[in-house]
This record gives sequence, structure tokens and C-alpha cells, in this order.
Amino acid sequence: MANLIFLISLLVLLQAIISAAVWLSDANATFYGDIDGGGTMQGACGYGDLFKQGYGLETTALSTALFNNGYACGACFEIVCRNQTNWSYCKKGVGPIRVTATNFCPPNYGEGTGHWCNPPYKHFDLSMKMFTTIAEYRAGIVPIYYRRIPCHKQGGVKFELKGNPYWFMVLVYNVGNAGNVSGVRIKGSNTGWLTMSKNWGQNWDIGGNFIGQSLSFMVTTSDGKTLEFDQVVPSNWQFGLSYEGKHNF
Ligand SMILES: *[C@@H]1O[C@H](CO)[C@@H](O)[C@H](O)[C@H]1NC(C)=O
Ligand SMILES: *[C@@H]1O[C@H](CO)[C@@H](O)[C@H](O)[C@H]1NC(C)=O
Ligand SMILES: *[C@@H]1O[C@H](CO)[C@@H](O)[C@H](O)[C@H]1NC(C)=O
Ligand SMILES: *[C@@H]1O[C@H](CO)[C@@H](O)[C@H](O)[C@H]1NC(C)=O
Repeated sequence: MANLIFLISLLVLLQAIISAAVWLSDANATFYGDIDGGGTMQGACGYGDLFKQGYGLETTALSTALFNNGYACGACFEIVCRNQTNWSYCKKGVGPIRVTATNFCPPNYGEGTGHWCNPPYKHFDLSMKMFTTIAEYRAGIVPIYYRRIPCHKQGGVKFELKGNPYWFMVLVYNVGNAGNVSGVRIKGSNTGWLTMSKNWGQNWDIGGNFIGQSLSFMVTTSDGKTLEFDQVVPSNWQFGLSYEGKHNF
């Protein structure tokens, strides 16, 4: 028994060591929107109202190098401001901020400044509230340390239904742990399991008419874990509504 407990503790410890991501320093951060989050609504990940959906202001847009064509949407990061040798706009004594990737910071091939989101730069464009938590507003741009962390979400994975009688799309959000989704399958009460395609952001689609059927989803996150949400959507579902799963990753 003691041996078993020892073995389990060892495994838990190993797991903790493996999952503790190292801090990376090859990125900078800026901010967008205003302090109340103006500009943080609909974005390239397909999430809707970030406040209603539980992401709030704890969000970031990612440059092309990090966005991974939307596959990074939903992943979570810890970020701290990185002091320079002879200057610092970092705020003193603040711990890391935690943010979810909810948008894309597009490249700017125009004249002048502000090319930080262009490939190959790794860049986090934070909500103003998050930026000013770690750095002075007047800095505008600061170097950072960042690392990927597990996402902590309240409640179950949520599914927002979109589309029309011929074409069906679902936004998968409020995803815990790995946070970003790499595959979605759907099963109507009249169908078998069908593989959906990533349309844009975290919107997944498939042709066909699912009206009047109760729906189940099988969601796979970027760490390879798959959860089944059995009949998470009742047969009287409607486009535009969200349905919450009983569990999360
Ligand atoms: C961060 O900003 C510094 C200073 O402007 C720049 O030299 C560096 O290339 C930037 N790094 C990234 C990853 O964008
Ligand atoms: C999930 O997000 C991470 C962090 O941005 C990224 O490295 C990874 O490629 C994403 N996973 C998939 C399956 O795209
Ligand atoms: C930091 O030091 C470098 C090298 O001495 C200098 O070129 C640069 O102007 C300094 N930056 C600031 C903000 O003082
Ligand atoms: C940045 O470095 C300076 C000088 O070493 C130090 O006084 C200051 O506390 C540092 N700031 C942060 C936020 O670590």
C-alpha cells in the first residue's frame, strides 16, 4: 500500500514537471481597445460577446506566428513584463496575468510603426486592462516572458449553433485545460458520428439538415483528449442559441 502511494506520488510529481511549461522570451506585447474592453467583441476566433461567454477582459490577440490559422484560439497563456537592462516600463510587484487567445492581430504591411504582428514576430495584443496590469500605459509596447498554461473555465464546454437548414456550424467555447480544439464530431439522433471541418476560428461546420434532431458532440483538444457530450442539444434546439455540456476538460 505504501509502495503504491509512493508510486502514485511519483507519477503526480512527474506529471507536474512535464506540464510546467518553461517561460519563453521571444515576444512583445501591446494593447488594443480601451480600458472597458471596447474592441474586444467579435474577432477572428469566432467567439461572440466575450463578457457573456466568460472570457471577459482576460484576453489577447495573437500575431500570425502564434495564431496558427485559428487553431490556437482558446489556448491560455501566462504573461509577465520583461525588464530591460537600462529601462523598464514594467509595473513592480505584479504577478503574471492569465489570458485566453480570442482574436488575431493582423500583419500591417503599411508605412511607419506598428509592424509587430507581422510574420515572423511572436506578439500578444492584449486588452488594455491586461496590458496596464503588468506595464505602464505610456510604454505602448513591452518585451515579455510568456508560457502556455492550462485554461481554468467555469461550467461545461459550450456549443453555439449557427447555420441554416442545409448547412450546420457550431462554435465550441469555454473549453478548459488545453483550451484549443483540434477536432469536432457530431451525431444527430438520426445519424452516426460525422466529422466536422474547421471553418474559421473555433467554428466547425458540416453540410446537412440537423433540425429536429437531438445532437451529441465529440470534442478533441490540442493535447489529444476527447470528451463526448451525449445529447447536449435537445431536439427542439434553435440556431443562435448556446447549449452547455455537463462536463469540461
Ligand atoms: C520586440 O521588440 C524589440 C524592440 O522593438 C525588437 O527588437 C524585437 O524584434 C521584438 N521581438 C519580437 C519577437 O517581436
Ligand atoms: C493549440 O495552441 C497551442 C498554443 O498556441 C499551439 O502551439 C498548438 O499548435 C495548438 N494546437 C493545435 C492542434 O493547433
Ligand atoms: C539603453 O542602452 C543602450 C546602450 O547603451 C542605449 O543605446 C539606449 O539608448 C539605452 N536606452 C535607454 C532607454 O536609455
Ligand atoms: C527592473 O529593474 C530595475 C533595475 O534593476 C529594478 O529596480 C526594478 O525593480 C525592475 N522592475 C521590475 C518590474 O522587475
